[in-house]
Amino acid sequence: MDRGDILSGAAFSAVLRSAIAFVVVLVVFGWAALAYIEHSLIAELGDDVQQRWNIIASEHEDEEEGHLEAAIATVSRTTTGGHHAVALFEAADTLVVGNILTRPEGSGLQVGPLDHASVTPDDITREYVYFAGPVDENTLVVGLRLDLLYHTKILVFRALTLSGFLILLTMLSVGYLLSAKSLRRLKEIETALSKTSEGDMTVRIPENGGTTQIDRIARQLNQHLERLSRMVATTRNTAAAAAHDLKSPLGRAYLSLGKAMERVDQGADPTEALGDTQDELETMRVIFDSYLQLSRIEAAGEERMSDRVDLAALTADLVETFALIAEDEGQTMTFEEDAGQDHAIMGDAQMLQQMVVNLLQNAVTHGSEGNLITVRMRRAGGSVLFTVADKGPGIPEASKTRVFEPFHRLDPSRSKPGNGLGLALVRAIAEKHNGHVALADNHPGLIVEVTLPASGA
Ligand SMILES: Nc1ncnc2c1ncn2[C@@H]1O[C@H](COP(=O)(O)OP(=O)(O)O)[C@@H](O)[C@H]1O
Ligand SMILES: [Mg+2]
Repeated sequence: MDRGDILSGAAFSAVLRSAIAFVVVLVVFGWAALAYIEHSLIAELGDDVQQRWNIIASEHEDEEEGHLEAAIATVSRTTTGGHHAVALFEAADTLVVGNILTRPEGSGLQVGPLDHASVTPDDITREYVYFAGPVDENTLVVGLRLDLLYHTKILVFRALTLSGFLILLTMLSVGYLLSAKSLRRLKEIETALSKTSEGDMTVRIPENGGTTQIDRIARQLNQHLERLSRMVATTRNTAAAAAHDLKSPLGRAYLSLGKAMERVDQGADPTEALGDTQDELETMRVIFDSYLQLSRIEAAGEERMSDRVDLAALTADLVETFALIAEDEGQTMTFEEDAGQDHAIMGDAQMLQQMVVNLLQNAVTHGSEGNLITVRMRRAGGSVLFTVADKGPGIPEASKTRVFEPFHRLDPSRSKPGNGLGLALVRAIAEKHNGHVALADNHPGLIVEVTLPASGA
């Protein structure tokens, strides 16, 4: 895999952006933390210095002269290095005793450099927190070098830098790995799609049950590929079946036309033969028509799907008509609906009417005398369930999927009217309405169950 591709991947850029945000937060936080530490340490050292000043200054209150000078001399002698500062200055700023060579500016508690007598190049700082105040005409200065502050600052700075660097390193490595992983998935998708475009309808993107966006897209693409390959397969079957189904009426039309011409040659009446030709052409027209209708349904835009259709009312009307046709055939058709339920769905009224007609027609056409057809309308959760149950010959389990293919008919002798497009239309219409069709056994007979989303759902 190309490293450039991985680094420009979405996962890596997301992590990189968070890493930059992290560094900004760390710098701001670190700066604030150091400022806080400095402030509180100086306050604490300040208290300390103030107390030392008080203790040393209190020597002056002793009765005997020179006590203060002696105490300062002891302190500056016993403390080595530049850590502790103590000195007494006369009014003219000349040093009386102590280890600070020149009198610092100002009085009270201060932070700043002091001119300490013992200075070494190893000193971490020249900064002191010191207190300068009057003792009689003199000025007593007591200070503490800020070593602790600088040590603490360096320590905190190092800790923040090191942990920041480790966290940053971890983030970037994780980002790199994630990006590499998604890139691998994208490559798999790319390979599958390019194979499909070369005509291989069997390839699928490997699924890993993951939940990332890419995994979901992969699953969706697989569903599309499944649909596409099914469509390609049915289109192939359909073309063959259509050719087959059109061949017979075409052949018969050709024969009756020949017969009509013969009649004309003989000076006889060709009307009957011409009538036969017309019938055959009509059969072909119906096949073309239904087929066109199928593709129109599949291509219909959303604007066509905006009627609010009361499926129960629509079905009740159609059952009324078909019950008469059934009666002529010695069959019975009844309609039942759940009382007080709303059976409205959103969609196209004309398509839905076509769907119901096809199912009622099938039940009557494929049934025989004594057939009992029950049409039901029910609600189940957010769905409207529409079922047509008959006591006819039914459809064997093995054919339950194939009958939905255009032109597929079970009856090999083609003794019943029809062109094998009825159920294909039913399925296309149901799916167009985000629903589905299922076939079940009625022992004996067939139950067709159409599930459609209710308009409120
Ligand atoms: N209610 C039914 N009872 C038994 N068989 C049926 C029923 N409905 C459909 N079929 C079978 O399914 C096939 C396909 O139905 P359909 O697509 O409507 O085509 P057509 O009715 O034009 O033959 C029919 O040829 C028939 O064999
Ligand atoms: Mg039919």
